[in-house]
Amino acid sequence: MFLIKVEPKGLSFETDGEASLLAAAARAGVVLPSSCRNGTCRTCICQVQQGSARHLIEWPGLSLEEKREGFILPCVAVAESDLVLQSPAARFTTDS
Ligand code: FES
Repeated sequence: MFLIKVEPKGLSFETDGEASLLAAAARAGVVLPSSCRNGTCRTCICQVQQGSARHLIEWPGLSLEEKREGFILPCVAVAESDLVLQSPAARFTTDS
């Protein structure tokens, strides 16, 4: 199990490293912005500040520069370690 923290709101959820970060977050009641869920629309884009994540598809809709800066698309990415993500639009399902 990996612990994923989502800043700046200090949300967190756990993942088995097999479900996409988007799905694992949803299971824990953490809503990350999303739309296509297949790595093309970039609605879910967020930045990894600590730890490492891996994409499940070969060509996620990210530029080389974004990849270098640690941006990932959590709908098609899984955790490889504990992570700290930066996703300002993330929220708990119970928040309005
Ligand atoms: S939801 Fe579209 S790229 Fe992740």
